[in-house]
Amino acid sequence: MEVIIVDTPQEGASLVTDAVAAILARPNPVLGLATGSSPLPVYDEWQRRYDLGEISFANARAFALDEYVGLPPDHPESYRAVLQREVADRVDFAPGAIQTPDGWSDDIPAACAAYDRAIRDAGGIDLQLLGVGSDGHIGFNEPTSSLESPTRIKSLTVQTREDNARFFDDDISQVPKHVVTQGIGTIRRARHLVMLVWGESKAEAVAATVEGPVTSMYPSTALQLHPKATVIVDHPAASRLEHAAYYQEVFDNKPEWQGIS
Ligand code: GLP
Repeated sequence: MEVIIVDTPQEGASLVTDAVAAILARPNPVLGLATGSSPLPVYDEWQRRYDLGEISFANARAFALDEYVGLPPDHPESYRAVLQREVADRVDFAPGAIQTPDGWSDDIPAACAAYDRAIRDAGGIDLQLLGVGSDGHIGFNEPTSSLESPTRIKSLTVQTREDNARFFDDDISQVPKHVVTQGIGTIRRARHLVMLVWGESKAEAVAATVEGPVTSMYPSTALQLHPKATVIVDHPAASRLEHAAYYQEVFDNKPEWQGIS
């Protein structure tokens, strides 16, 4: 695992976008998108470089990590709607090129299996963006999720529903209890995992993810099992890392050509 401590989220977003630009220059690029606030600086940077004519998503496909179950189809906080606003409306993905798990299907298990199949059929995800929940969830894989899980329906913890109530008028009763999420096994099949974490409130989560024991009780620790995982954090989010100085030294002395890929 590579841990990169940056001065600002914008600096982290720029590093990620360098890696994404290299993927976009190859045939059949496939990106994994995340929601939540952590990836937003990355989407800002995508739009900036797209507006400058430096990158194009016209040939790319993308798969979202997760989706709520039970929201009205036109709800503005469905992840389909969020990714439409934050990504699709701002750069040049082809219509339909961004897929989200189907939280509205009459047959959720079949829809979940079809989603994993669609990712496989697309050639797999080249780079998957990730945030981390305050209980260590990735996607919506709550504690005790199997580290080999496929895309499936999950129940949210009360803590996650409380955390996400900010998107639902601060009213937890409006936050769905169920979601469909790429499984941890699905996420682990992406060729490069890039987790973004900002702010002191996530310092515990970062320390557990990077330096804690691998356990399904803390799903983000599954990153330790991945051959190519990058965790990009600002200084407040890095504040509980025991080996922060080492990570900093490794990055400062990295060969110029290496990037994060
Ligand atoms: C939600 C999403 C996760 C995200 C998490 C953290 O629960 N399903 O993918 O990582 O929120 O959100 P934030 O980045 O806003 O802290």
